[in-house]
Amino acid sequence: MFYRGDKLKQVFLKAKKTRFGIIASNVVFDSAIRGIIQGYETQRSDGLLQMSSGAVKYAAGDTKDINTGAQMISSMVKLISAQYHNSGVGLHIDHATPNYFDFIVYCIENDLVSSVMIDASKEKFEENVRISSEVVNIAHKHGVLVEGEIGYIKGDEDEIVSDSELYTKPSEALEYVKKTGVDLFAASVGTNHGVTKGAKIKLKLDLIKEIDDLLIANNVETGLVLHGASGLTAKQQTDAIKNGVVKINKDTHYQMDFARTAQAYWEKEKDAIVKPDGISEDDYIMDKSRFDPRKWLILSEKAMQATVEELVQIAGSAGKSILL
Ligand code: G3H
Repeated sequence: MFYRGDKLKQVFLKAKKTRFGIIASNVVFDSAIRGIIQGYETQRSDGLLQMSSGAVKYAAGDTKDINTGAQMISSMVKLISAQYHNSGVGLHIDHATPNYFDFIVYCIENDLVSSVMIDASKEKFEENVRISSEVVNIAHKHGVLVEGEIGYIKGDEDEIVSDSELYTKPSEALEYVKKTGVDLFAASVGTNHGVTKGAKIKLKLDLIKEIDDLLIANNVETGLVLHGASGLTAKQQTDAIKNGVVKINKDTHYQMDFARTAQAYWEKEKDAIVKPDGISEDDYIMDKSRFDPRKWLILSEKAMQATVEELVQIAGSAGKSILL
C-alpha cells in the first residue's frame, strides 16, 4: 500500500513509541523500487522510499526535467506498492536544498510524496529556520511530513558533497525543531555518506541521546534521522535506535548490491556476449538466453530485496506494519 503523510505519521509514531527503526531506501529505477517494496512486504514491515535530486534527473532522461522524473518515480512506487497489503511505503524527497524549493512545492501540490526533506543546513541558522518553516507551512497544509537538518554530514550523496562534518548542537536542535515544527530531524552524529566501514565510524550515541532527551523534555519529541547509514554495523544501528533514532537512510548499500551482483554474473557469463579466445568468429554464437537483461537485472533486484529484508530485521520493524 502507498502511504500518504497521515499514515506515514502513524508509522513513525509507532516506531518512536516502541523504539524500532524505519528503513528509508534511496531508489531511482524500477528494479530497485520493486525489489525494495517486495522486501518490506515479505517482512510485513513499513518503509520509506526516497528520491534525491540526482534520482529525479536520471529518471527523466535527457531532458533532466525533475518534475517529470518525480512523476515517474512516484507513479512506479504507487503502482507497485498497491499490489501489497501486509506493508506500506511512503515516498520521500531526500536532501532537497533551497534551490529545489519550487520542486518540493510541485511534488507536494501534485500529491507525489508523503514527506520531504528540506536541507538548508549549509545556510546560516536563522535562514535555515526561515526556509524550513516555509516548507513546513506548505507541506502541513497538504498533510505531508517534513524533515530538516542542522549540522552537516561528511561524504558524498548525489549533489550533497561535504569534506568536513559539523556535529549538531543539542541546544540548536531544540531551537530549530521548536521554531520550524519539522516532523523529522536529521542530526549530524558521526556517520558519513558513501562507502564507509562501521568500525571506522565514530557514531556519537551520547549525542543522539542528548538531542532526543532534550526534545522530549521540551515537549517537541521528533523522529531523529540517521543519514549516511550504509556502513554501520547491526549493533551501531540498534544502539542508535535505542537512543532515539527512528529513520535510517540507506543508499550506497543498495548501489553496492546492484553492482556487485551484476559484476559476478558477467564474470561468469561473459561468453554469452563476448567471443572467448580460441573460438573462430564463425563458430561463436552469442547466447540470448543469458544476455537478456531480465536474466541478470533480476539478480541485482533480488540482492537489494535480500538487503532490505535483513535491514528491517535489524531495525526491528519486521512484523510491525501499522496494517497488521
Ligand atoms: O539520505 C541518504 C543517505 O543518507 C544515504 O547514505 O549512501 O551512506 O547510505 P548512504
